[in-house]
Amino acid sequence: MCGIVGAVRSAAPVTAGLLEGLRVLEYRGYDSAGLATAEGSTLRVAKREGRLANLEAAIAEQPDWGGHAGIGHTRWATHGPPSDLNSHPHLAGGGGVALVHNGILENHEPLRRELEAEGVTFRSQTDSEVLAHLFAKELAAAHGDPVRALRAALGRVEGSYACAALIPGGGGARVVCSRNGPPLVLARGGDGCWLASDLLALLPHAPEVVFLEEGDVALVEAEGFTIHDAGGEVVERAPKAVDWQPGDSSKGQWPHHMLKEIHEQPGVLARGLANRIGPARDDVALEGFTDELLTSVERVQVLACGTALHAGMVAAYAIEQLARVPVDVDFASEFRYREPVVQGGTLSLAISQSGETADTLAATRLAQQLGARVAAICNVQGSSQVREADAVVLTQAGPEIGVASTKAFTAQVLAAILLAVRLGRAKGALSADAAGELLGAARQLPSQAEGMLTTAAREAIAEIARRHAAAKGFLFLGRGVSFPIALEGALKLKEISYVHAEGYAAGEMKHGPIALIDPGMTIVCLNGSSPLSEKMRSNVEQVRARGGVVLSVGSDPETHALASDVVEVPETHPLLAPILQVIPLQLFSYFVADLRGCDIDKPRNLAKSVTVE
Ligand code: G6P
Repeated sequence: MCGIVGAVRSAAPVTAGLLEGLRVLEYRGYDSAGLATAEGSTLRVAKREGRLANLEAAIAEQPDWGGHAGIGHTRWATHGPPSDLNSHPHLAGGGGVALVHNGILENHEPLRRELEAEGVTFRSQTDSEVLAHLFAKELAAAHGDPVRALRAALGRVEGSYACAALIPGGGGARVVCSRNGPPLVLARGGDGCWLASDLLALLPHAPEVVFLEEGDVALVEAEGFTIHDAGGEVVERAPKAVDWQPGDSSKGQWPHHMLKEIHEQPGVLARGLANRIGPARDDVALEGFTDELLTSVERVQVLACGTALHAGMVAAYAIEQLARVPVDVDFASEFRYREPVVQGGTLSLAISQSGETADTLAATRLAQQLGARVAAICNVQGSSQVREADAVVLTQAGPEIGVASTKAFTAQVLAAILLAVRLGRAKGALSADAAGELLGAARQLPSQAEGMLTTAAREAIAEIARRHAAAKGFLFLGRGVSFPIALEGALKLKEISYVHAEGYAAGEMKHGPIALIDPGMTIVCLNGSSPLSEKMRSNVEQVRARGGVVLSVGSDPETHALASDVVEVPETHPLLAPILQVIPLQLFSYFVADLRGCDIDKPRNLAKSVTVE
């Protein structure tokens, strides 16, 4: 998705810092990039389709390039294909201002017609350029007051946005910005102020950041920033300390962020457990999840997208089993449009790595309006999802840069299971002994995951990937709590290696996908020590009878005996098995994608955080 950076400094040039910020935002997915800088009243713009290197080349073509203030953008095309002209920033007001925008302006067509009738010439096909022209028009009407002008321009548009406009001027250039939907974060650092749509881009500049609230308009100058709330009042927004380090988002010695993040999982699991298991080791301490909140829960509504939805499906098994509370799991994008019924006593549980996924946020707000209390499992402190929830489990996985989610997923599943234990204990549905047994097994997870990520273990999976990389398709089968892992294994493979893969509940295989099976198909069968393993073995027999090639991932020796390839997964509590089973599937996808020469960290067409519908 699109990314925004901006800076106003008193003396030092901004270009290198802005390009560095855009580089940090690359992971979110983009197809073009641009930068505008101002030096006094001179405005310069460079923008190019493609990677940042193209933008750097365009800047190098302008020998007098410079400036102490600027805005930059990475674009993920929505209106109009990727092209130099459709890239942001967009100029308006006779080249007097430049604007960048994230989000979608739903009423851009009538506004474009209106502006064209007034004599405005559009240079791009984007909805965003409409906002640039509206802003320039309002700036003239407001006698150069950028805050009034941006508020007036935004008053005309419908949709979601984070935007920033650069206004050059003899007395010093300024940036004005606002958000309604996608995030925007500000920081004061060094000799100026910085802004970005993702706090990762601000880590090099300041240890504290300020998150704009919905409808805020901020005027950013070298000396500081002033925030006006949705009602136009000047407000102070409390700075938040950031516990991520700038180096956390670099891939270090690893060839890809995804491989690095897969290997971070033992540490992530250890952090997710630290200080959360109570002294008696038969309950979980989760800040904000009070007995008052939990005993009122009669139903849980999980809302999430993509990989986070699969974590939500695991949550459903765990909560129903441990807390005996019914759980519904919905794609956030479906929930928000299906006139859902939210009964009294519903806890809406949003699961999101970024905390900024538009569908998940909208679905959660709807559930809240319909009377639900809101909990979140989220990886990004300060994100919208975190700020809007009554109680939050932070997954503490650290920045996840690879577009294909790995460590955030295992952290979400662990957090969901801990929440299920807490709910079960609070509601008296889970005995101390049963909780103690599960938490005892959970404490083994970091070392078990470590054992699955040795060089030898990794090499063995790379070798299996070599044998299967040319398969014409993949079917992932799981039962019970391993069913969401089958979906996740298939999603990982699709996302990064672009091969067709489907995840299925193994019992459903005979109702359709069995027709696909032939010797060209690889069938990945998840198994464990659950009572369902015998049923899984029958499914494997059915696959073999039709010539399908079986890869067995799990801990059931009898299923392994039927397979052509085997990945051994250590035994654990059945509800925790997904956390370990997914690790080899992540590695398998990684190696298949690598063999196919795919861009693993930035898969085509995908965005890390989908902040539009
Ligand atoms: C995008 C990403 C997925 C992610 C999903 C939900 O589609 O490519 O990897 O699972 O969004 O993101 P969230 O930040 O809400 O977990």
